[in-house]
Amino acid sequence: MASTHSAHVLVASNRGPVSYEVREDGSLHTKRGGGGLVSGLSAIGSDADSLWVCSALSDGDREAVRRGEGEPGVRMLDIPADVHADAYNGIANSVLWFVHHMLYQTPLEPVFDAEFRRQWTSYESYNRAFAEALAESAAPGAAVVVQDYHLTLVPGMLRELRPDLRIGHFSHTPWAPPEYFRMLPDDIAEQVLRGMLGADRLGFLTHRWADAFTACAGQVVGGVGDTRIGVHGLGADADFLRERSHEADVEERITALRAEIGEGRRTIVRVDRTELSKNIVRGLLAYRQLLDDRPEWRERVVHVAFAYPSRQDLAVYRDYMAEVRRVAEEINSVYGTPGWTPVLLHLKDDFARSLAAYRLADVALVNPIRDGMNLVAKEVPVVSDEGCVLVLSREAGAFEELGEEAIVVNPYDVVGTASALHEALSMTPEERAERTKRLAAAATALPPAQWFLDQLNALRS
Ligand code: G6P
Repeated sequence: MASTHSAHVLVASNRGPVSYEVREDGSLHTKRGGGGLVSGLSAIGSDADSLWVCSALSDGDREAVRRGEGEPGVRMLDIPADVHADAYNGIANSVLWFVHHMLYQTPLEPVFDAEFRRQWTSYESYNRAFAEALAESAAPGAAVVVQDYHLTLVPGMLRELRPDLRIGHFSHTPWAPPEYFRMLPDDIAEQVLRGMLGADRLGFLTHRWADAFTACAGQVVGGVGDTRIGVHGLGADADFLRERSHEADVEERITALRAEIGEGRRTIVRVDRTELSKNIVRGLLAYRQLLDDRPEWRERVVHVAFAYPSRQDLAVYRDYMAEVRRVAEEINSVYGTPGWTPVLLHLKDDFARSLAAYRLADVALVNPIRDGMNLVAKEVPVVSDEGCVLVLSREAGAFEELGEEAIVVNPYDVVGTASALHEALSMTPEERAERTKRLAAAATALPPAQWFLDQLNALRS
């Protein structure tokens, strides 16, 4: 655990950079994650005295906290499991995530009842635990960057405890337009906005999300006040990806995937968490439509779909995963032949296999109904071996930077997506290679380390 009042740069997020597992012999096994924040924070160097505050998410994490055996530079908060479940599953993932991704089936939901109010008080205590830990660990005048919709109340709470700090908040999600955001009860909408506006500076992934926030603040609390708003479009980590995607385990996966796909066939690849907003089912339906509209593609193309488990505590995510599986199986049983499996669906998370699929993809399908950025869209062109056509939803944050070189789709339009897939499969190798080059350049314009440093510099100036 960090000593009191010592850190100069602090990051706060629900999920931290490490997780722990208790092994059979009782020892702790540490797993390290990746992502923009991890490389960003390592870029500021070890002498910067940084601290990452996150929550314990698993039994292994809680055990690590109890034993005091955590990684240096990481402070995990052992928030009571029921409080965390209310705040994380109940409010963050079932309400705020749904609002910003516009996922409700509005005739019946949301219902902001007494149970919602009860969970909201857990969300408040969870945010308060972060604010208190940050207040305790931050050196005078330190910079604190709070991450995402789980922690919207932290900036305001921390400002009260420690007015000396520079406080930033970054949203990795879209932001809802005012008419959708205002489905939240008025007092809750106000609390969220005032909480965030406790920050000196708020960061968003695109201008669209930043503008939506400003519009919400304008309607609900009369504007953003002194808080500055910035846009930082997180890019792919080219150096890491190029190196990692040529390691032996990835080469092995390429060989295995090629055998599964079959000689000479084209591939339409998608890689996602099985997340409601990723639109995996309509992607499958569009592929099915392609096989109907353009029977010449039968036997000649395979849809490689990796749909990794996500948020399985929530029934609606389990149901969605089952639906993905059902539709994939149906396509295979209706269209498959002894030598050809039209959809290759893999549900077990395997990063090396994802990179292998990126490398051999002819077409990448990224069709979310709404997405903060979508890094898959940025990663594929960087590692692609022979060029890959990107079919991209206009509702993904990445559209702002990649739209010009992609084939753009309305994610709800299955017939339109099918014809985009046909166009993508039919593109000449020359044009495809040219576009991939330009996509890769745009996708890597702001590497993670720079993305993080820019925010830190802006916060301090
Ligand atoms: C999104 C959020 C992140 C979150 C990630 C995975 O990208 O913006 O904050 O960590 O999804 O979510 P999960 O809670 O399932 O780890």
